Amino acid sequence: DRPVLIAPSLLAADFLHLAEAVELVNQSEADWLHLDIMDGMFVPNISFGMPVVESVARLCHKPMDVHLMIVQPERYIDVFHQLGVHHLILHYEASVHLHRYVEYIHQLGMQAGVALNPHTPVNVLKDIVHLIDIVLIMSVNPGFGGQAFIPHSLHKIREAKELILKTGSAAKIEVDGGVDLQNAAQIIQAGADVLVAGSNVFRAADPARAIHLLKHVL
Ligand code: DX5
Ligand code: ZN
Repeated sequence: DRPVLIAPSLLAADFLHLAEAVELVNQSEADWLHLDIMDGMFVPNISFGMPVVESVARLCHKPMDVHLMIVQPERYIDVFHQLGVHHLILHYEASVHLHRYVEYIHQLGMQAGVALNPHTPVNVLKDIVHLIDIVLIMSVNPGFGGQAFIPHSLHKIREAKELILKTGSAAKIEVDGGVDLQNAAQIIQAGADVLVAGSNVFRAADPARAIHLLKHVL
């Protein structure tokens, strides 16, 4: 049985108490800390930027998993590398030279991920999946936390799993949006390796327990 990795999304934390949220993640069974960067252009919302990531980096002991929901994300690869992030995830829809930037992210020593919006078919990754470390399946339309899981995402997770097996890729499948205790088992059974959870962790009465329950849901 492969253990599922849990990546709490800081977007749902109380921004007046970010240090507490990061400490909670440090001391929990969470595997990664997921950071959502939004520019108000690629998605209709603005989240937080470099000063916040820099502060979080000083406290966080878990790998920082940065999900760039910004236009031309390649403009900021160097900056996030300098901030010490471990995984950099670019959207397929936002970058026209993914191959070049995946190589560049690797050259800098980071893991590279590619995210797909709900309308983007999995097979667009056919010629890059063998090079990447993470396939991020968006199971909501990116931009906001707290939205409902789109059931069709389960098909996409299965397709991604097939593609990964067929191509011999080592990529992990990460699923982002609307993940909760009710749907987590199905998502893992469909092939997910990593679950992102925002509201269902940070809006829970006991976030550490919410992380524990997600991790041991099967
Ligand atoms: C949405 C972000 C997600 C978000 C998930 O655009 O990419 O990472 O924080 O939040 P929940 O788990 O509340 O759907
Ligand atoms: Zn995200």
